[in-house]
Amino acid sequence: MEDRLIIFDTTLRDGEQSPGAAMTQVEKVRIAKALERLKVDVIEAGFPIASQGDYEAVQGVARTIKDCTVCGLCRTAYEDIDRAAEALKDAPSMRIHTFIATSPIHMKAKLRMKPEEVLEAAIKAVKRARQYTDNVEFSAEDAIRSDGEFLCRVVEAVIDAGATTVNLPDTVGYGLPDTIGTFFREIIERVPNSDKAIFSAHCHNDLGLAVGNSLAAIKSGVRQVECTINGLGERAGNASLEEIVMAVRTRQDAFECDTRIDTAEILNCSRLVSTITGFPVQPNKAIVGANAFAHESGIHQDGVLKHRETYEIMRAEDVGWNSNRIVLGKLSGRNAFRTRLKEIGIEFPRQEDLNSAFKRFKELADRKSEIYDEDLQALVKDTETMTANERIKLVAMRTESETGEIPFAAVTLAIDGDERSSEESGDGQVDAAYSAVESIVGSGATVQLYSVNAITTGTDSQGEVIVRIERGGRIVNGHGADTDIIVASVKAYVNALNKIMFAVHREHPQASELTP
Ligand code: KIV
Ligand code: ZN
Repeated sequence: MEDRLIIFDTTLRDGEQSPGAAMTQVEKVRIAKALERLKVDVIEAGFPIASQGDYEAVQGVARTIKDCTVCGLCRTAYEDIDRAAEALKDAPSMRIHTFIATSPIHMKAKLRMKPEEVLEAAIKAVKRARQYTDNVEFSAEDAIRSDGEFLCRVVEAVIDAGATTVNLPDTVGYGLPDTIGTFFREIIERVPNSDKAIFSAHCHNDLGLAVGNSLAAIKSGVRQVECTINGLGERAGNASLEEIVMAVRTRQDAFECDTRIDTAEILNCSRLVSTITGFPVQPNKAIVGANAFAHESGIHQDGVLKHRETYEIMRAEDVGWNSNRIVLGKLSGRNAFRTRLKEIGIEFPRQEDLNSAFKRFKELADRKSEIYDEDLQALVKDTETMTANERIKLVAMRTESETGEIPFAAVTLAIDGDERSSEESGDGQVDAAYSAVESIVGSGATVQLYSVNAITTGTDSQGEVIVRIERGGRIVNGHGADTDIIVASVKAYVNALNKIMFAVHREHPQASELTP
C-alpha cells in the first residue's frame, strides 16, 4: 500500500460554498499561493461553469501555481467538463473532477434519473474528461448513503473508463468512524480493478465527525483526503486540513502513510483564509485556535515548564506559532513593507495598489505602534475592498454615545459618486450607524451575524468586523478592519451591501446536475 497520503484541498471550492464565503479571483490566487507554500498536493480551485468570475478565478490559479495539481469541479454534462478543461489548460499539472450523485434519494428526488442513466452519465463524463487529461477524478456524491452493490458497479465502471482517483463523499456528514472504515475496506475489496485508482474520502462535519471519519478512511486504505483550511465548507463544514495532517504526523505510530505538508505554514494559511472569507477561527479550535497551545491552569503550566511533553503532544512552532512578532512600525519604509508582505505571500501586481496599501499602512502605524502579520493581512483585505470599484463607499461618519443618552450616528456615503447623508439613533453606536446606512441605501437586507474580533492582543488592536447579511435567500459576508470598531463595523456593512446589491449570481454545483 502507498505510504503517501495525498492532500486535496477544497477550500477554494467546497469551502467557498459556505454562506457568504465567495472569493474573488485575487483572493483565490492569494490563498492558492499559500496552499502551494503549505505543499498541498491538489488545489480544487472552483467550479468553472458556475460563473465567468469563477472560470477566471480557476484560470488565474492554474496560471499561477507551479508546484501543486490544480483541479476544477464539473458535473457530468459535457458543457461543464469542457469549461473546466478550458479554465485549467495552462496549469503545469491539471485534474478534472467530475461528479454525479449515486444515492437513491439524490437520484430520485434531485436528478430524477434511473440508476442505469446515472451509471451511463458517469462513464461518459470520465471518458470526456480523459480527452483533456489523464488525471481524472470521479466522485459519487452521497456515496455513503448509496446502495453498496450499485456503488461498486459505478466505481468499477468509472475506473475502466479512465478515472485515476475515485472519491466517495459523505456529502451529508452521516457516517460514523467505524462504518466509514468498513465502507471503504469493503468497496476496495469488492471492486475488481480497485488497484488501478486512488481512493479518496471527502467527509462533511454535520455530526462533528469529519476528521475522525477521514482518519478511519485512511486506516482502511484511502490515500487521498479532501479537506479545507479551518474546516470551512457547506453547513458545518468539511474535514479540517490542519487537524488531519497533524493527527497523521503526530501519530505516525498509528498510520502507515504521511503527507508532504510543510506544517510550519499552517497558521499563516489559516489566518489568511479566515481574513479573506470572514469566518473567524474559534479560540479552542485544534491546531490554529488562539488557545490551542495556551496553558491556562497552574498545574499544566508547571508541567510544561518542567518538561514540555507532559502536556503538549505537538510543538506550537511546528504549526507556525511564533510568539506574535512585531514585524513593522511607524518608521518602516516602503521596501520593508513590500518585503514583509511578500514573505507572507502577498504581492501586488499593480504599483498603484501597493501605493494605496502603503498609504493605509502609514495611517495605521500612526495610530498603532506595533504592526503584526495579522494587521498586514487585514489591511490588505481592507485596501482591496476599498479599491475594488465598490459602488457604495463610506465618505464620513460620526457617532455619539453617553451614559443615559440614546446613541446616535451620522453617516455620509457616496453611491456611484453621488454623496448622501443620514442621521439615526439606535440601541448602540453600531446599531445607529447601521440604521443610518440602511436609510441611505434602502437595501432591505437583514443582518444575520455580526462579529468583532481583536486582530492582535492589546486595546490598541485593530478590530476586525464580519457582518453577514441576507436578502431574498442570498447571503454574503462583509469585512472591515480599523482601530475604531464602529468604523470597522460600517466598513464591513458597506462591503456586504456592495456584494449583495451588485455582485452577479453564481450557480451552486450541487443544486442540480445536467446529463450529457
Ligand atoms: O460533498 C460532496 O459530495 C461534494 C462533491 C461535489 C465532491 O462536495
Ligand atoms: Zn462536499
